[in-house]
Amino acid sequence: MGMLKSSLAFLVLAFAFFFCYVMSSGSYDYFQFVQQWPPTNCKVRGKPCSKPRPLQYFTIHGLWPSNYSNPTMPSNCNGLKFEDRKVYPQLRSKLKRSWPDVESGNDTKFWESEWNKHGRCSEQTLNQMQYFEGSHDMWKSFNITNILKNASIIPNATQTWSYSDIASPIKAATKRTPLLRCKRDPKHPNKPQLLHEVVFCYDYNAIKQIDCNGTAGCQQAFSFQ
Ligand SMILES: *[C@@H]1O[C@H](CO)[C@@H](O)[C@H](O)[C@H]1NC(C)=O
Ligand SMILES: *[C@@H]1O[C@H](CO)[C@@H](O)[C@H](O)[C@H]1NC(C)=O
Ligand SMILES: *[C@@H]1O[C@H](CO)[C@@H](O)[C@H](O)[C@H]1NC(C)=O
Ligand SMILES: *[C@@H]1O[C@H](CO)[C@@H](O)[C@H](O)[C@H]1NC(C)=O
Ligand SMILES: *[C@@H]1O[C@H](CO)[C@@H](O)[C@H](O)[C@H]1NC(C)=O
Ligand SMILES: *[C@@H]1O[C@H](CO)[C@@H](O)[C@H](O)[C@H]1NC(C)=O
Repeated sequence: MGMLKSSLAFLVLAFAFFFCYVMSSGSYDYFQFVQQWPPTNCKVRGKPCSKPRPLQYFTIHGLWPSNYSNPTMPSNCNGLKFEDRKVYPQLRSKLKRSWPDVESGNDTKFWESEWNKHGRCSEQTLNQMQYFEGSHDMWKSFNITNILKNASIIPNATQTWSYSDIASPIKAATKRTPLLRCKRDPKHPNKPQLLHEVVFCYDYNAIKQIDCNGTAGCQQAFSFQ
């Protein structure tokens, strides 16, 4: 009887540990590769950005391992914390262009927080170096600013756009459905929302771009300025 009890206790404990491991190692289905339009960051932020004139091209916000059944993506998983020395000089100069901190200006701090919050949840697929190299390559593969420019979509304070005005040319260029996200300017709550992010989705191995199928994050008419 004692034997049975203790082996049962052992099983329960083993299961609990297994469960904790699965939760903390971060399981995910696909990646969201999120790019942002810096002028919107600076408008919706409570205080000015470090640079007086924000960059006028899309920059990386992050590469987020995501889960179809659970929209709250895995975050802050166990795993190796960010190590600055792994951002070797050549990668650093690339990231300074593709993945700058457009708000406070501390790029390293931004990379650190994105890796610690999201990157560690897919460490079994991409180590820290591969995570940042891969993100830079995704950024380079399609120039959203240029795709929009070719479709005569130029940032403009007086014009508003529909979801498909922006999503269609991007879809035509990438052959995959993107996701758009907007934000409202708290200082101008009655004005149209501002385009903030363009999301590309990638498969589990972060190799193949796939259609995004989440819910759209922009209302009818929004502006891009
Ligand atoms: C997604 O999240 C749910 C709920 O947390 C979890 O049960 C499931 O295993 C996750 N899916 C994958 C592929 O990890
Ligand atoms: C930038 O962030 C890094 C990492 O958090 C920190 O070590 C460094 O002191 C910060 N640099 C400045 C100039 O604040
Ligand atoms: C992307 O396109 C814009 C607009 O055509 C251009 O100014 C910019 O240099 C391009 N960026 C890269 C990394 O090629
Ligand atoms: C935009 O148009 C230019 C000039 O016609 C062309 O060279 C370039 O490949 C186009 N870029 C995209 C992303 O469609
Ligand atoms: C902005 O858009 C408005 C409305 O479509 C147009 O009249 C105006 O010429 C545009 N401004 C610039 C600088 O392109
Ligand atoms: C999105 O697509 C994936 C893969 O095809 C599927 O498993 C998932 O259920 C879809 N999610 C939604 C919200 O449609």
